[in-house]
Amino acid sequence: MSQRHSGKHPHASKSVLSSLMLPQDANPRGYVFGGSVLKLIDNAAYAAACRHAGTAACVTASFDRVDFTMPIDIGELVILEAQVHFAGHSSMQVGVNVFAENLDTGKRRQTNSCLVTMVAVDAQGRPIGVPPLIPETEEEKRLFKEALERRQKKIKRD
Ligand SMILES: CC(C)(COP(=O)(O)OP(=O)(O)OC[C@H]1O[C@@H](n2cnc3c(N)ncnc32)[C@H](O)[C@@H]1OP(=O)(O)O)[C@@H](O)C(=O)NCCC(=O)NCCS
Repeated sequence: MSQRHSGKHPHASKSVLSSLMLPQDANPRGYVFGGSVLKLIDNAAYAAACRHAGTAACVTASFDRVDFTMPIDIGELVILEAQVHFAGHSSMQVGVNVFAENLDTGKRRQTNSCLVTMVAVDAQGRPIGVPPLIPETEEEKRLFKEALERRQKKIKRD
């Protein structure tokens, strides 16, 4: 693994992605396909991870559990907010919050949240080092601690 890095703050990775849900995103019931939302989550997590890692060479290692608690309608604007919560040596845990905005009323509701682990890689696909993450706010420190605990549990499990 790689060279030394100076640390970066979580907000430096913040990435917001918006996408209008169109008929091609519909499932047979007329709502948005879960798979369409997963693709957007992956894109948003990728952008945040690349911003933190300082490279466009990041790959998805895992998705945690995703619950679809309420449907999203065709014609709604889906907004995804992603930010790195934790950085290991080469991996980054990225939190993604998903919102749906009704463009008639302007009302916005949170429909999902998800954690995605992305890994920075070299040209051969081997993991490379990323900058340490330096949480600043109380919320960022809490998210960092929770991510570290998840990572430790996963290492024990595997
Ligand atoms: C992700 C990948 C690069 C990891 O490579 P690897 O040789 O297994 O690397 P390592 O075991 O050394 O792990 C590297 C880092 O990834 C993390 N990692 C690996 N697999 C993971 C998983 N399933 N979930 C979470 N983290 C994982 C490790 O904890 C480690 O983190 P650290 O460097 O911060 O300590 C490799 O498995 C890969 O290329 N996967 C396919 C990626 C891809 O194609 N994604 C799109 C899927 S459609």
